Amino acid sequence: MTPDTLATQLLTCTRRYTGLTPSGNPQLGNLIGAIRPAIADADSTETVVAIVDLHALTVEHDARQLAERTLRFATVILAAGLDTRQAPLYAQSHVSAHTGLHYLLEAATHYGEAHRMIQFKEKSAKQETVRLALLTYPVLMASDILLYDTDEVPVGEDQRQHVELARDIAIRFNRTYGDVFTVPKVVLPEVAARIMDLTDPTRKMGKTNAGGAGVIFLLDRPDEIRKKISRAVTDSRNSVAYDPDNQPGVSNLLSIAAALTGTDPELIAGDFAGYGALKSGVTDIVVEALRPLQVRYAELSADPTTVRGILADGAHRVAERADRTLNRARTAIGLLPA
Ligand code: AMP
Ligand code: TRP
Repeated sequence: MTPDTLATQLLTCTRRYTGLTPSGNPQLGNLIGAIRPAIADADSTETVVAIVDLHALTVEHDARQLAERTLRFATVILAAGLDTRQAPLYAQSHVSAHTGLHYLLEAATHYGEAHRMIQFKEKSAKQETVRLALLTYPVLMASDILLYDTDEVPVGEDQRQHVELARDIAIRFNRTYGDVFTVPKVVLPEVAARIMDLTDPTRKMGKTNAGGAGVIFLLDRPDEIRKKISRAVTDSRNSVAYDPDNQPGVSNLLSIAAALTGTDPELIAGDFAGYGALKSGVTDIVVEALRPLQVRYAELSADPTTVRGILADGAHRVAERADRTLNRARTAIGLLPA
């Protein structure tokens, strides 16, 4: 490669940003919606991955466990294969520009916009006292994204509205104060952008779903995975077809299998004669997909000092760009330079 083509490639390289909140335990939806897309394209894009620990403070949390969870999520992402020589991995709270930009973006966001977020409505309806941080959290997420001149944000379907808000805030800020931010766009997985709970295929598989019987956690043992999938809700048609409206449970299993094997859910439906075969086939696919991650996790988690070193290095590498963007925003919004 000549220096010229290298320079062109660097100039045109797409920037990606991925964030994972260290609450609950990492589950299959996180792997398919966020972790895999980050890893898969880390060598053709400029990817940054963060454990967004401040986001774990938006709902009641256990202060004694948060640091441990942050470390566990980082270890899982490394075990899934993130090459941190290419893509820095860091903890959000280690880079102070996130909260610095958050406040400036709050001044560019309308109360109605934050209040309209589906996730805010759903989560706040379930709680007696709602932390103010739950309302403003999508603005902090916008700050995560905008600090790094991000072009693309790979997320699951549930986060689409938040990325669109980040887009709206960036456009408004640029229009009002001058061109400060790159306007990001959402990238959804082609298959399984919304994996559903196995026991209730009308709701999203989530880290904190009650009981966890319908959630495949990335560190579940093979026998636990087998048990959960064998109890997955299906229907009485006994026909293996990809039809999310009429057969949500069966379609969810097909989506999981397709996403993990890189195929199409409609195509692989024909591979399974009935629901028994479908469940055992999907179990094998999930167990095989998680095996290398679990082996690597066992090795890495025995060495938390190395993982902490990787996070410290990541924070160091991203801080400069983050500070630069924050300073641009501070100047544009009219603050006196320090
Ligand atoms: P969270 O667990 O809410 O921190 O989500 C971290 C990332 O995983 C986000 O990009 C989510 O959109 C994605 N994600 C979480 N659950 C699912 C799911 N059930 N299906 C697809 N993507 C998901
Ligand atoms: N809000 C996201 C979630 O709950 C996590 C997140 C925070 C994120 N900041 C981000 C995802 C920036 C992508 C980009 O899943």
